[in-house]
Amino acid sequence: MSSTVEELREIYANNQKKFLEDYFRFLSFQSVSTDPAFTPDVLACAEWLTDYIQSIGFTVEKWPTSGYPVIFAQNLEAGPDQPTLLIYNHYDVQPVDPVNEWSTPPFQPSIRNGEVYARGAEDNKGQCMYVLHALKVLKERKGRFPINIKLCIEGEEESGSRGLAETLTDPSRQEKLKADYLAIVDMGLRDKDTPAVTLGVRGITALEISVQGSKTDLHSGSHGGIVYNPLRALVQMLSRLWKENGEVAVPGFYDDVVELSPQEKDLVALDFDSEKYQAMFGALPTGGERAFSALERAWIRPTIEINGIGGGYSGPGMKTVIPAKASVKISCRLVPNQDPDVIGPLVAQFLKEQAPEGIQVVVPFSRGGGKAVRANPNSPVVKAFAQAYEELFHKPCERIFEGGSIPIATQLTEVCGGDVILLGFGLPDDQIHAPNEHFGIDRLEKGFIVMTRALELLEN
Ligand code: BES
Ligand code: ZN
Repeated sequence: MSSTVEELREIYANNQKKFLEDYFRFLSFQSVSTDPAFTPDVLACAEWLTDYIQSIGFTVEKWPTSGYPVIFAQNLEAGPDQPTLLIYNHYDVQPVDPVNEWSTPPFQPSIRNGEVYARGAEDNKGQCMYVLHALKVLKERKGRFPINIKLCIEGEEESGSRGLAETLTDPSRQEKLKADYLAIVDMGLRDKDTPAVTLGVRGITALEISVQGSKTDLHSGSHGGIVYNPLRALVQMLSRLWKENGEVAVPGFYDDVVELSPQEKDLVALDFDSEKYQAMFGALPTGGERAFSALERAWIRPTIEINGIGGGYSGPGMKTVIPAKASVKISCRLVPNQDPDVIGPLVAQFLKEQAPEGIQVVVPFSRGGGKAVRANPNSPVVKAFAQAYEELFHKPCERIFEGGSIPIATQLTEVCGGDVILLGFGLPDDQIHAPNEHFGIDRLEKGFIVMTRALELLEN
């Protein structure tokens, strides 16, 4: 089977109205997995998606978990002589706050300048949608898929993938998820004109720490100078996480980090445009370890970041208080060979040891997270997708890494048993996880074309 890019463009144009309707419906579900208030919406989204995938011509199973269901679908009509590709997406999204910074409501998609604005527009509903549209058209045009297809679409990627992690320990589910290749379609390009496939992502471990001084909030005049202020304790403890040169100061943090292969060294040697970065994000690339380049710091070095600090009074006007408690959310990005179950506790223990006398430290939350992933750059699935991107862009396809994480990627790759590739059509300024997230209509079309072509190219 072989379609040309031109044919696919025409097919897309003829279907675009309906495709956008599907996409807008998908975006209207408030499938925020991290906040229990949205449980009915997440479940309704899973239900809608199940029906949608069924209508394309898949046998669909909704696997219950202790969290949100995993949607598994397969169509093996291509037969045993053809390879099997497992495609991963997620139907959950990040919370919308700060909600008043959105120009239009996050769950009422709207189009401005050819971009669709909504929570999940890119991450990951837009990317999931073009995958499904490619499959729908392949099936309609040829009556069957060129290769065997399995889909695994989870509802907890943005909150740690607990349900899918459980699922992956069940032998009967493991059997179903076996495939020759795994495509994780939740990634992006470095800029809109340069095709790229992603050969690795960082791992992650997240923790929360709270510090307590007094039983209740205290008057800062009566008690100031007597008690140890928990907010002061917390900022002091946190400040010890890094050295002056940007290195993480936690002993043992870098112990398991391994040398790069020569091939990986070539990949991280791509250039990084500091001025463009500054123009796009309004920030200088000055974080991280001074001894490494910006791309190295984002792709192949581990980090610790503070994601949020809370405590005391920060409302309007003044309030002279010494808070009883303060807390912080932290996450570490990990590189190959680092274990989230080692690094999380290591950082928590280090912080505990920094606490001054009179301050109690509690670690209410320290979750496993996920390991870093590396793809085999020479696998047939990497070659097929790279070729599909090149046909569309008429340019060499970059091989890149990504600093973000797909916590379940390593486990899913192991269970699948095949070669992994990560890819997608996100762009650095899509504002994923932020207000006014958006995704280009042109990229829905491009994603559709690349998915279609790659599937055709994988046919024996
Ligand atoms: N789609 C992202 C991963 C990503 C981030 C790809 C940036 C390309 C650029 C994914 O949905 C994500 O946000 N993962 C989280 C996982 C976390 C919540 C456990 C991440 O990386 O923070
Ligand atoms: Zn995300």
